[in-house]
Amino acid sequence: MTLDLATKVALLTGASTFTLAPNDELGLHEIRLSDGPTGVRGLKFSGGRVVALFPNATLLASAWDTGAAYEVGRLLAEEAMAQEIHVVLGPTINLHRSALGGRLFEAYSEDPLLTGKVAAAYVRGMQDQGVAACLKHLVANESETDRNTMNSVVDEATLREVYLLPFEIAVEEADAWTMMAAYNDVNGVAATEQHHVINEIVKGEWGYRGLIMSDWFATRTATESANGGLDLVMPGPGGPWGDALVEAVKRGDVDESVIDDHLDRLLRLAERVGALGTPRSFPDDLPEPDSDVRREQLTRLAATGMTVLRNDHDVLPLARATKVAVIGRHAVQTIDMGGGSAQVNPPYQASVAEGLTALLGPEQVTVTDGVEVRTRPVPARGGFLTDPQTGHPGIRVHLLDAAGNELESRFAARSSTMIGMDDDFPDAVHTAILTGRVTVDGPVELGVLGAGTWTTTLGPAEIAFELELTGNGFGEAVLTPPLRVDRFTATAGDVFSARVELLSAGTFANAGLFGLIGQVAPRSTVDALDDAVRAAAQADVAVVVVGLTEEQEAESVDKSTLTLPGAQDALVEAVAGAARRTVVVVNAATPVLMPWLSRVDAIVWAGLPGQEGGHAVAAALLGDIEPAGRLVTTFPVADGEAPAWSVTPVNGDLPYAEGPFIGYRGHYAGRAAEPAFWFGHGLGYTTWEYSAARRLPPGEPNPPTTTEEAPPETTDVPDAPGVAVTVTNTGARASREVVQVYLRPDNPAQPVRLAGWTAVTVAPGESAPVTVRLDPRMWRVWNTTTGDWERASGGELLIARGLGDIRATL
Ligand code: BGC
Repeated sequence: MTLDLATKVALLTGASTFTLAPNDELGLHEIRLSDGPTGVRGLKFSGGRVVALFPNATLLASAWDTGAAYEVGRLLAEEAMAQEIHVVLGPTINLHRSALGGRLFEAYSEDPLLTGKVAAAYVRGMQDQGVAACLKHLVANESETDRNTMNSVVDEATLREVYLLPFEIAVEEADAWTMMAAYNDVNGVAATEQHHVINEIVKGEWGYRGLIMSDWFATRTATESANGGLDLVMPGPGGPWGDALVEAVKRGDVDESVIDDHLDRLLRLAERVGALGTPRSFPDDLPEPDSDVRREQLTRLAATGMTVLRNDHDVLPLARATKVAVIGRHAVQTIDMGGGSAQVNPPYQASVAEGLTALLGPEQVTVTDGVEVRTRPVPARGGFLTDPQTGHPGIRVHLLDAAGNELESRFAARSSTMIGMDDDFPDAVHTAILTGRVTVDGPVELGVLGAGTWTTTLGPAEIAFELELTGNGFGEAVLTPPLRVDRFTATAGDVFSARVELLSAGTFANAGLFGLIGQVAPRSTVDALDDAVRAAAQADVAVVVVGLTEEQEAESVDKSTLTLPGAQDALVEAVAGAARRTVVVVNAATPVLMPWLSRVDAIVWAGLPGQEGGHAVAAALLGDIEPAGRLVTTFPVADGEAPAWSVTPVNGDLPYAEGPFIGYRGHYAGRAAEPAFWFGHGLGYTTWEYSAARRLPPGEPNPPTTTEEAPPETTDVPDAPGVAVTVTNTGARASREVVQVYLRPDNPAQPVRLAGWTAVTVAPGESAPVTVRLDPRMWRVWNTTTGDWERASGGELLIARGLGDIRATL
């Protein structure tokens, strides 16, 4: 087979947003990609197939359970195979550098070892089914502000010891078949042109044989990126390679062998996923997203990662006879996923109110909405609008061409739809008409989102206006489109209709998200607090659910504070003042400030728990499933009290000035105040004693243990040093303990770091010997002068339940 240069180059850019081109001569079939850290969305960015929504990455990682991560990889592969998808664009293994990072919900942890181990297990689970995983985003992509232009300034040792380590572990231990090069620059060179990172380290030192694709629209050049090791430009068609790269080869700027290597890697991927030669067949008996088996899996995976941060007077687990007042906007509209490319279209999203009512019965539970939590209205939720044609919760969207002919009439379950990006019409969309039937009486807020020339009508009221894109065109149009909301008095059954002429129909740059906004006109904060206090006073226990929304936890935005949005802190204070017992459930993926910490009885961190979220929270609060999580990120005590904080580049640069001292490593070194909660903290539902801790030299066989679960993969390393310790469950319930071992080197320039962990489940009153094998990689120190690894010597091993609770020092 000898393909001409132009044909080879053409294969190295996507054929569409989420597909790669087939080629008959090569026996290459179409390769289909889908986003997927928390569910496999499919080929459409929005409004696509209904798929299972998984707990978010931080919640999964909080289980510190590589077995669970493997299971998640396997289940996501099933979700992919059900749609004939070959490549899932995850896991996201950037680190939680600053808690302000808007996209941390997609990534596992602030710790590189935990991130790498969880990622490797997830990748194995997925690729064992013949579906490729994609490690993203290579590298130093820890925040979103100016994400297309910012330059992460990271010293070489920190890059290797911290930010590249999860990628290295997932390559060494799971051979991830693809990676994605990030939007940002690293030390002045675009991540898509990183000869040093991609060619020298990843493909050179690590011997990586997989394929490296660009993040979507990230590639800026032909010569520099192709020579820098980037194998595939996404999406396509179009983009910076094509003719320009062919010319560069002809000029001699790019050697044709470079193109051949990129193509070899693409074909290797095709072979691995069954898209070369005889195409693979996909199983047709996979579970539906709302099947019983998915419900069980998603509830268990979510609940076990939930983390008990505080539990005074053993208020948790709740007794079955408890009368509960469930309070808060997040109780009635639980946030189950973050925003951006990780979003999927789930069959349902169970709220905490629904979950507790289902387990305790309606007579024992009162439900009270809380204060406003958003500044920006969102598409109508929960059946506020219904499709006038079918009556289903959602809206109807008619798409017309310039002559007024209908191109498509579609139903949008989430009251919003993407126009122009996933579509493949013979004629471009010129006008869209969006309609929804209002299901309530009284004062309402109705509006639209999307750029264009709009006319909205409700009964006789007609309003005309324009909405323009102001910032970064494509990203904004898709992720934060312009919007307008007006107040009306509605009668149930009224049809709200909105007609929009798109900005300049048909051009890809004007693709975007369009939708109808609708909600009951908001109540005043004072009314919401009054209702909450009344409900709290009448129950045995108040469960207040607070949290963040997609305004804080989303792609393309960062936070400016860790304070809970709206008057949620006032809500917790008010409830705590009125209730006999107060339990706070934090529905957020990342740290929030808790000024009310000492005035409540219990706090459970619930992450973004996926479609079964409310059922999982209820199971955790009642102890049907132990919330056995340990924090994957340190919770600072105040804004700025963290070793790394600002995410705003200065003159384009974002210096990673804290070096390797991120998260708990920096707190422990005294570079920031004692945190509210340490990485690794989590109480579960029992108490523990540690005894007989001793060091196991490398090579000494593991002593017998009663560990029921498969220990983490560190035990695969035969020459790894280890620690043996006995843990005794001194409480009244069976529980899962995560024994964590940290290395604290003597050299103060070297931060403390997690070196290994083992989990064990122990019955009340019983003891279990536990062995923790430590990862030799955690002893490596990069010597910038010699350009090589050295081994750290000296120091102590700390056996700890998070560094705020050290149980033994060796
Ligand atoms: C994100 C990637 C994602 C891609 C495709 C980008 O905006 O950064 O993580 O895989 O879009 O949706």
